[in-house]
Amino acid sequence: MKAVIPAAGFGTRFLPLTKAQPKEMLPVVNKPTIQWVVEEAVDAGIKDIAIITGKHKQAIENHFKPIEKLEIALEKAGKLDELKEIRQINNLANIEFIIQEEQKGLGHAILCAEEFVENSPFAVLLGDTICTGNPNCTKGLVNMFKERQTSVFSVEKIKAEETIRYGVISGQEVEKDVMLVDDLVEKPSINEAPSLLGIQGRYVFTPELFEHQKNVVKGAGGELQLTDAMRSLAKKGKMFSWTFSGKRYDIGTMRDWFQSHLELSFNSDYSQILKEVIGKL
Ligand code: UTP
Repeated sequence: MKAVIPAAGFGTRFLPLTKAQPKEMLPVVNKPTIQWVVEEAVDAGIKDIAIITGKHKQAIENHFKPIEKLEIALEKAGKLDELKEIRQINNLANIEFIIQEEQKGLGHAILCAEEFVENSPFAVLLGDTICTGNPNCTKGLVNMFKERQTSVFSVEKIKAEETIRYGVISGQEVEKDVMLVDDLVEKPSINEAPSLLGIQGRYVFTPELFEHQKNVVKGAGGELQLTDAMRSLAKKGKMFSWTFSGKRYDIGTMRDWFQSHLELSFNSDYSQILKEVIGKL
């Protein structure tokens, strides 16, 4: 299975931080967000990955490509651990970069990967979203796809006042944490929300999604929404949601960015430093 990581958006919720710096490159602990996302796909057994990026977001591509001058300099300076580390990033996966010429929305970004996907099932991981948990979210979805052979995606329980920020689903529970989805609404008001289960940013789709995405017209926020294509797909055939119990951080928001950095640092080699810093506040 291949994976598509959309990372071409303008990140307007996080300006001015994201004016020149892609939000997908914001550091969490000791690496950029997008590296966490690529590692999740790799950990789920996926090696062929397309990152959808924009002309204004060259830093993303640079992060995964070999930089010869840097490697020579590290070698000359005897900094072999650093050299090993950056070479590992270069070799993490087979990554292709696809430019989304205009920021027309998440659904449009995914359409840019149609040729790359080649008529097979594929995973989608939002490039600005870190998920942690065991199994990791994408791995859980890949396993669920193998079992059900139809499109699946993860959701999380949300608060009533949060519906306006999420794609919200309705459906029937078919087993613990699994729903057969019959409807999806992008960013509904509290009164319009069919449930309190919000889409999280991890999916495995059958390639039929592309046909549905092509018929989508501008929706919430004037964008070509992925949720609208999923809605159309769900009405044609079966689609399941999985309530993911791990953590999810939307790095497009200050709160989740802070939280991810602190929580994930506590579980890292840097926990001692963090405790010392916090102890001094
Ligand atoms: P978001 O809607 O969270 O990202 O899309 P955004 O548009 O960059 O952010 P705001 O709302 O303006 O602050 C989720 C993911 O989809 C990508 C984003 O880069 C992000 O990783 N995306 C979004 C695209 O690739 N293309 C788009 O046209 C829109």
